[in-house]
Amino acid sequence: MISMIPQIVEKLWNKYDLEGPVREHCKKVMEFALRIAERAEKNGLKLDKKIILFGALLHDIGRAITHDPFQHFLKSAEILRNEGLEEEIVRIVERHFSAGITAKEAEKLGLPIKDYIPETLEEKIVSFADNLTFGSEIKNFKSFLERLERIDLEKPDLKWFTEETRKRAIKMKEEIEKITGMEF
Ligand SMILES: [Fe+2]
Repeated sequence: MISMIPQIVEKLWNKYDLEGPVREHCKKVMEFALRIAERAEKNGLKLDKKIILFGALLHDIGRAITHDPFQHFLKSAEILRNEGLEEEIVRIVERHFSAGITAKEAEKLGLPIKDYIPETLEEKIVSFADNLTFGSEIKNFKSFLERLERIDLEKPDLKWFTEETRKRAIKMKEEIEKITGMEF
């Protein structure tokens, strides 16, 4: 397993002064995402592990600017685009929140109106690994759904966590289970 942190990642973490606990979280997400990817590859799938590694390590760099759950991934993408990273990596970062956000939901949340739904397997794997990684601890899928419910309760006016969102999260979990043979 690749476990070293590329120099460019360290440089960006330092440049934006990303907090230590967020860096630790990103490392855990990277390890977990690569573990999922390796299992999928054993089952015959071909994945780009390099962009999974970069996407996972940088997905939360926007937390150097804001911890707002509905804003930080936009900041992450903005930073990485400005820094000239590959679009494949930027999209992983931009689509990592929850099981994605539809254009309709984005409008309700006051975000630039477009889909933020993970599409490629690399995007899904990083998003899913992040969903289950609480700080530096990996939990189960049920805990993730509970966390979404908590975010929803904190921002009741948004009515954000809909049945559609829940179904999308479950579908992503089932897909990852199918390609890896793992259970979450
Ligand atoms: Fe995040």
